[in-house]
Amino acid sequence: MSHALSPSPRSEELYQRALKVASGGVHSPSRSYDAVGGGAPRFMVRAKGSSLFDADGRRYIDYVCGYGAIILGHAPDPVVEAVRRTAPDGLLFGTPTPLEVALAERLCQAIPSVEKVRFTASGTEAVMTAIRLARAFTGRPKLVKFDGSYHGHSDPVLVAAGSGFSTLGLADSAGITPGVLADVISLPYNQLEPLDRVLAAQGDQVAAVLVEPIVGNFGLVPPKPGFLEGMVERARAAGALVIFDEVLTGFRYRYGSVQDLYGVEADLTILGKIIGGGLPIGAYGGRAEIMELVAPLGPVYQDGTWAGHPLSMAAGAACLDALREPGLYQRLEALGRRLAEGLREAAARVGIPLQVNQMGGGVAPYFTDQPVEDFAGCERADTERFARFFRAMLERGIHLPPSPYEVWYVTAAHTEEDVEQTIAAAEEALATLVA
Ligand SMILES: Cc1ncc(COP(=O)(O)O)c(C=O)c1O
Repeated sequence: MSHALSPSPRSEELYQRALKVASGGVHSPSRSYDAVGGGAPRFMVRAKGSSLFDADGRRYIDYVCGYGAIILGHAPDPVVEAVRRTAPDGLLFGTPTPLEVALAERLCQAIPSVEKVRFTASGTEAVMTAIRLARAFTGRPKLVKFDGSYHGHSDPVLVAAGSGFSTLGLADSAGITPGVLADVISLPYNQLEPLDRVLAAQGDQVAAVLVEPIVGNFGLVPPKPGFLEGMVERARAAGALVIFDEVLTGFRYRYGSVQDLYGVEADLTILGKIIGGGLPIGAYGGRAEIMELVAPLGPVYQDGTWAGHPLSMAAGAACLDALREPGLYQRLEALGRRLAEGLREAAARVGIPLQVNQMGGGVAPYFTDQPVEDFAGCERADTERFARFFRAMLERGIHLPPSPYEVWYVTAAHTEEDVEQTIAAAEEALATLVA
């Protein structure tokens, strides 16, 4: 790897200690630098607004933003205040609380297709349960999903999964039984013909079609016109449920779900990340007649010590309330658009082929000259070039996800100066790639 990073003695020391006690030295593979040349990841000690501060005292403009969980910026006052107010009254009751009623009400009000909701501790659990629920409701075994999407780490959705999974060059996770594999069909995103073929052959076996409506796990890939609408129509015609995994998209591009943007309604919607305001959370919800199959009303089991955790509920409600600020999403769109344009212009000046997909505050650059509309397109991008770019940006105080499959997130705390500084750093970093 040609781009050596400046010494980071504290991060290095922490990494050496971590390697002895944690597999790979990290607790989530997405945090490792293995895909970008290796070495000690930067250990962060503080975050505020658009900034992260590492253990060696360096400041970075952050675009990881909790892998999409952070939208107001780091440690926003209303959310921190909500946690501070809630914690002294008790950390966990193991009973219902008013806080969970208040957050559930906000979700049901914001997303018309969600009549009832249940909280979990993570998006992974919510996806896992929604699939079980779809199977119980339809009495069918099979799940259709799309290549390169990521839906957490339960067994069925690790078939042809994306994000951290693709970063490591994995196809299907080890440890998944042939029985699980046999019940999952993974198809190319943004194409209806493969779906037609599968539904024609075995539509009566399909319990659900699971989709990230705007993909955020092989960079950022919006649906082509007609794709989501066609998918929903075909799934319905086959008697399968439609599950929208909105763990990334929920409240990211507008207040609520992206279903309204495309004029479609999911039978089940999965939420996470932003709705916890930076604390652990997941949720699944949908039509009452489906949700009423969940215990204690029905025979589908889902439980959880941490489900509806009081601090997550309080933080989530405070975050959603802050997201109602007029003009916030327009500002995110303007900043995201400027960042994407600036990256394209910088790459053009340096003479490096770069495609940049952008939506709202989400930005995904790909080192390729071809538009990226599906996982195969993302796979064509130059990952070695990304690794060198990542390191050159880190040297310049810009903290990017250490993977070409992840989205950069602009938050409400990022300023125009942050974005201009990032574009200037990117031009320098790109120039080092051709030097
Ligand atoms: C679309 C999507 N679904 C589900 C998940 C899993 O959520 P969690 O990490 O909370 O388990 C993720 C995580 O990145 C995701 O991007």
